[in-house]
Amino acid sequence: MVQLRDDVVGLDSAIFMHPTTWVASGHVGGFNDPQVDCKKCKNRFRADHILEEYGINADKATLEFLNDQLDKLRKDGKLKCSVCGSTELTPAKIFSLMVKSNIGSPTEELKEENVVYLRPETCGGIYLEYKNTVDSLRVKLPFGIAQVGKAFRNEIVARQFIFRTREFEQMEMQYFLHPSLMKEKYDMWKDIRWKWYLQYGIPEPELRWYKHEKLAHYASEAYDVEYNFQSLGGFKEVEGIHARGNWDLSQHSKYSGVDLNYLDEKTGEKFTPHIMETSVGLNRLVLMFIDQAYNEEKLEKETRIVLKLDKRLAPIKIAVFPLMKNKPELVAKAREIYESLKPLYMCEFDDNGNVGKRYRRQDEIGTPYCITVDYDTLEKGDVTVRDRDTMKQERVQVSELEAFFASKGLTI
Ligand code: GAP
Repeated sequence: MVQLRDDVVGLDSAIFMHPTTWVASGHVGGFNDPQVDCKKCKNRFRADHILEEYGINADKATLEFLNDQLDKLRKDGKLKCSVCGSTELTPAKIFSLMVKSNIGSPTEELKEENVVYLRPETCGGIYLEYKNTVDSLRVKLPFGIAQVGKAFRNEIVARQFIFRTREFEQMEMQYFLHPSLMKEKYDMWKDIRWKWYLQYGIPEPELRWYKHEKLAHYASEAYDVEYNFQSLGGFKEVEGIHARGNWDLSQHSKYSGVDLNYLDEKTGEKFTPHIMETSVGLNRLVLMFIDQAYNEEKLEKETRIVLKLDKRLAPIKIAVFPLMKNKPELVAKAREIYESLKPLYMCEFDDNGNVGKRYRRQDEIGTPYCITVDYDTLEKGDVTVRDRDTMKQERVQVSELEAFFASKGLTI
């Protein structure tokens, strides 16, 4: 998104920003979810999720609609707590997702005037750095600013492994453009993002587009990429691609009093750039890749658990083992090889348990290659390299290891 593109720059903005940022963006007034409580077991639910379970689409629905629908289910005797089965569920009420802090305030009391919010999405920092970027980095429209960073939301229900958490990592890119280019660039980014999933080993049938029918008043298009999570029982959102009009920069300009118009030097036109964004949860992608890579393979005597991650995504690329832990000459040689590969690849050294067990440990975390050092290594200068997916082993000269891994396309 950044290194390979000439039209996108990277950014690392602050987590805490001036609280007016989130008033301007509409979060303080409207970043809410509808909450329902079970009076009996005290569990909390999102009203829209409850309705979805009854086949009612309540995406971005008003509180009035939600409560009407909940009332209907209640009257029909259908509305029940999914945890304890009680019928005593409260009406839906608005719950703000904003996480508050008193950073920079000399009092511990959290009042509206001294509250500072933790960012609920990373793009807020991108809008605030838009002018700085244009003024200092010689960028011309259309261009994007991308960043990876923490976001915080007081989710009513944070569950399903790491699918939804209250602290999570987002990767967002805001692409600034003239409105006449929106359709073309929106289609371009949809295509780029779709291919990204395929490139990293997600099969096309496991992906689908979800088109949002109900859009925010400023938005002209919104699609989600959904992945078919085996571990969560079906298709769920991993990424959003949104055409957001010029609402964001107009709002920030209005609240900060700073002119955020762009002057097109070629046409002489002055306008507030429109924005299309790609927004994805890093943790959610990790869950997606693990979900896709997880395999249980039946072998002759056992079941092998193996994470068939794309090599580029594997956290450890190579594991190095001495055949036996209690043979100092083997341990020393294995350490030497480990030290020589460590600057090139993420490596692990393991001498614990028998070699078979060490292979299994590495299979479970998706390590593409394991190297075993034995007595032949000391005599002939070669090692056994074992491939995670095929489990095939081959002898490779220690002096050839770098070239061998390069030929396999292994990258740092
Ligand atoms: N700036 C637009 C925005 O934040 P979003 O749909 O709220 O849009 C974008 O979030 C992505 O961030 C989602 O598709 C999801 O991958 C991830 N995400 C959102 N809330 C999350 C949470 N509580 N835990 C983990 N990931 C989350």
